[in-house]
Amino acid sequence: MRDNCVIRTNGYAIHTRMTQSTPLNVEAIRRHMGDVAARVELSLLQQCASTNASLLEQGTTRDTLSVLVCEEQTAGRGRRGRNWISSGTRSLTFSLGWRCMLEPAKVSGLSLVAGLAVAEALADLGMTGVRLKWPNDVLFRGGKLAGILVDMQSNADAGLDVIIGIGLNVELPDLSGLETPETDQDSLAPAALSQGLAQPDRNLVLAAILSKLIHLLDEFAREGFAPFSDRWAARHAWAGHFVQVRMDGMAPIHGNCLAVDSDGALLVDTGRGVQRVLGGDVSLREVN
Ligand code: BTN
Repeated sequence: MRDNCVIRTNGYAIHTRMTQSTPLNVEAIRRHMGDVAARVELSLLQQCASTNASLLEQGTTRDTLSVLVCEEQTAGRGRRGRNWISSGTRSLTFSLGWRCMLEPAKVSGLSLVAGLAVAEALADLGMTGVRLKWPNDVLFRGGKLAGILVDMQSNADAGLDVIIGIGLNVELPDLSGLETPETDQDSLAPAALSQGLAQPDRNLVLAAILSKLIHLLDEFAREGFAPFSDRWAARHAWAGHFVQVRMDGMAPIHGNCLAVDSDGALLVDTGRGVQRVLGGDVSLREVN
């Protein structure tokens, strides 16, 4: 059954057709998660401003991972200060809070690990062809399937509260009625899970991503990014593509995208040498 509706968020309005997808359900998610469910405190809200903002305010605890999933965000946040617009039950919108005891300098690969977890979890569910755009966009057929925002703040334990927020399109948003010209998110068309999986079950997909993410975070905490660099490169959507990299306060870099190194830095061949691009407020665009 479908109804027309308008989702309003931060001054934008998306006219969309709502699908009656399976409602999110804490018990179902926990059941699908298997053993790792015992390590997670999972909360589900019908509406909140931003799952990242809520978990940042709550802070993390040493022994438990907190997950907040929300059917609708009213002030979703994207990378580089942008809004993140999700389409209610046609999306999956959630954040995981993790108490990380690594020094800030060692956490640069973390957002790449989060993207890899999404791609590998979807592959385990049978969705082939999910790729990664540095640092952490998840692509399908060249479009943006999921965006990831990692927030960090120091905590009283001398570690970091790390909040990994993931917004995933389950079905394609209908952007035709968008009331502002800024229809794109990072200049990529949207892609959706329903293009690669028949009748995706949001509870199952969320559980698969959370389990994978938790396992990869355990490995990342022990060994850093190095063991992931080949796995990430195997899914690198723009390997060999000519790109422009923009970093705040610096002249843009142009060159061929190579791989990522053992810290998760993107390697770009500028023709005059290989430049390392490490996290921060970086925008990456393909140049034709
Ligand atoms: C991007 O700009 O690509 C990152 C988008 C991240 C969106 C997710 S949705 C869940 C979490 N809560 C937020 O406010 N943002 C992230």
